[in-house]
Amino acid sequence: MDGNGRWARKRLRPRTFGHHAGQKAVRSTIEFCLRRGITALTLFAFSSENWQRPADEVSALMELFLKALDREVNELHGYGVRIRFIGELSAFAPALAARMNAAMDRTAANTRLELNIAVNYGGRWDITQAAARIARAVQAGEIAVDQIDERRLEPYLCLADQAPIDLFIRTGGEQRLSNFLLWQIAYAEIYFTATLWPDFDAAAFELALADFAGRERRFGKTSAQIAAEAG
Ligand code: FPP
Repeated sequence: MDGNGRWARKRLRPRTFGHHAGQKAVRSTIEFCLRRGITALTLFAFSSENWQRPADEVSALMELFLKALDREVNELHGYGVRIRFIGELSAFAPALAARMNAAMDRTAANTRLELNIAVNYGGRWDITQAAARIARAVQAGEIAVDQIDERRLEPYLCLADQAPIDLFIRTGGEQRLSNFLLWQIAYAEIYFTATLWPDFDAAAFELALADFAGRERRFGKTSAQIAAEAG
């Protein structure tokens, strides 16, 4: 969700004004997914590196998350949205971490839309925590080192119980992954758009979906094989 700061600067307003506008785009994106039958949405709300931003911006973002949780969870629950936070939650203030855990517990049985919100998340952190957890399983004698392969490591990674990611969208014009879901997007289609996050509306999302629909997903196979499989 890149581009909040630039969106605000264009309007001669502080960066936090852009984050507030970004929050509205989060809401409309969730509504779009519900309308379009999209069953999983993962948002990169705060990276492990974002702590390095000016302290007032970090605290404004935390305040925004806290208020959004208080305001939106009921309604999302009513829509059948399952909320999950992925990332190192222990770094957050206890009040915020408690709200995040309560939102996850409350919506745990919902199935209409998996809404994953990455906070204090980094793709390298994710792979590292999976490695540490599998090392613990080795230490406990539950698995032998020689048995470790991709299939056995995968369950320790975030989002392991969800479908593979189809489409990765980055707004704001930069063409890089910035340490988001590294393992999980091995076969995702990547879509970069110059649209700043607060301007990412239904029309912009439709453009991304149309682009995605035109891609040929080969998963390492040839075009001919894919055509034969499609019958
Ligand atoms: C990146 O834009 C955006 C963020 C670091 C924060 C994302 C947060 C929100 C959209 C607010 C609400 C989210 C939830 C889940 C309630 P940037 O600040 O890096 O923009 P810039 O590249 O233009 O400076």
